[in-house]
Amino acid sequence: MTDAPHQMSRRQLIRHSAWFGAAVGLAVAGGEVISHVAGTADAARVQGRPTLRFAQVSDSHIGFMGKANPNVAASFAQSIDRINNLGYTPDFVIHTGDLTHLSTPSQFDQVKQMMTGLRTPHVFTVPGEHDSVDDAGEKYRSAFGAGTRGDGWYSFDIAGVHVIALVNTLNLKKLGHLGVEQLDFVAKDVAALPSDTPIIVFSHIPLFAMYPDWGWGTDDAVQALSYLRRFSSVTCLNGHVHQVFSKTEGNVTFHSGTTTAYPLPHPGDGPAPKPVTLPAGKLHDALGIREVGYTRGQNVLALKEQALQ
Ligand SMILES: [Fe+2]
Ligand SMILES: [Fe+2]
Repeated sequence: MTDAPHQMSRRQLIRHSAWFGAAVGLAVAGGEVISHVAGTADAARVQGRPTLRFAQVSDSHIGFMGKANPNVAASFAQSIDRINNLGYTPDFVIHTGDLTHLSTPSQFDQVKQMMTGLRTPHVFTVPGEHDSVDDAGEKYRSAFGAGTRGDGWYSFDIAGVHVIALVNTLNLKKLGHLGVEQLDFVAKDVAALPSDTPIIVFSHIPLFAMYPDWGWGTDDAVQALSYLRRFSSVTCLNGHVHQVFSKTEGNVTFHSGTTTAYPLPHPGDGPAPKPVTLPAGKLHDALGIREVGYTRGQNVLALKEQALQ
């Protein structure tokens, strides 16, 4: 907690990339990771491309076995393949949680191994509630939590954008909760940033009230977002709901992402969010990845959803 934000950011970036071989090379060769990455982005901007480009995948549920998707590993592999064939190298890839279905050691091994196939300098994750089934996220953190704080939250800077990764699935008190320690982290994390710094926030469960009856909301998110009110561009990206949905509240835009595993019902459509089995041949229309682009000077991020079909 005594690290200066910049030192912490740099350490996070290196540690989060530690299991991705190419990124270690970049970190060491560049000497200064942040400026190295930003330099790449500057070069891209000159050529008319976005300042920052990354991909989001979510809810791979490795280990799920059910009619809704008899082979989640195959559809996750297909998602990785899509990202590797975007026609450019994303600056990073974020997995917004429910990496595994039941948090077993072999499921964590499998999903981690699969993600080493992502062709990008950095892979980031946040945990879902399926990643902490029996141990409050201990196995998740030993697989993906190096260099993080508390239950696994962190932040970093890339291409002039400040990225915050939050954990709202592990608090023992309740699902969809950040907790005092994490709220304090957010407040301090952004305190020194100029208000024109673009902010991107990752979490598993939505930070807006998408459908609280099903646990699709975060009860103390308003407090976290209050620290971000002064910023001109705030974008929150989440998983958990297994469907694309967007909403804007004031200066903050929220985007729920789809899944690579199986669809869930629309909010309130049925008694509970249980896996939906689609007619034959329709599953891959509901699965996908998301491309995100940020161009300096623009407050709104460009999102492109890509179905697996
Ligand atoms: Fe999920
Ligand atoms: Fe979830």
